[in-house]
Amino acid sequence: MKFHVMTLFPEMIEQGMNTSITGRAMAKGLLSLDTVNIRDYAGNKHGKVDDYPYGGGAGMVMQAEPVFAAHQAITEKAGHPIRTIYLTPQGETFHQKMAEELAEEEELIFLCGHYEGIDERVLEAVVTDYVSIGDYVLTGGELPAMVMMDTISRLVSGVLNNETSAQSESFQDSLLEYPQYSRPEIWRDKAVPPVLMSGHHANIEKWRREQSILRTALRRPDLLDKAELTEKEKRLLKEQLQAAGKE
Ligand code: ADE
Repeated sequence: MKFHVMTLFPEMIEQGMNTSITGRAMAKGLLSLDTVNIRDYAGNKHGKVDDYPYGGGAGMVMQAEPVFAAHQAITEKAGHPIRTIYLTPQGETFHQKMAEELAEEEELIFLCGHYEGIDERVLEAVVTDYVSIGDYVLTGGELPAMVMMDTISRLVSGVLNNETSAQSESFQDSLLEYPQYSRPEIWRDKAVPPVLMSGHHANIEKWRREQSILRTALRRPDLLDKAELTEKEKRLLKEQLQAAGKE
């Protein structure tokens, strides 16, 4: 997977992506990162890329031409069109299925805005997808781009050590992940659930699935409608919720 990031703060993206799992995946050549400083395409010696909004109003707007020139430089070098994501609170809210779909692409361009936004005309010319990471407003698109790249990266083959772990975690099957425990067996008088110490794999799998279902019902009941539960699982959940006084 090749990520191109158009930004005024390339060092922020590089620092973030060079850390931990994504950093290792880049060193291994499984991911590559190409940061493009929009300011390098300012077309003036001051590196000015913003101006006042027509019609008045607060703040500054990123001008069309530097963004367009930076985008053209990327696609001309690639020799083919590349899906281009603009990070904006006005976009479709990012979710795991979207990440899975984007992970199928060989290259992606992320366009990070700042100030009060980017001239609409260049957005119309280059953007294929408008994406938000949630209903709150950040100072720029860099953190959202990193959130998306991190989520997509772990779906790229070979990025996680354990091939199955990308599959089995939260949101697969619309269920949250079961609780995890590690040593010591007793920590401040709290014991690890005995089934996990039993070595009985079928029972452990069964317990984990039940915990995933119960946890989803308690913490994210909105997800449960999309999960596929057997009749037996539905009955058990009902009993457990009743026992917990939640039904
Ligand atoms: N830019 C500013 N806020 C944002 C958000 N919530 N999602 C994506 N891009 C943004």
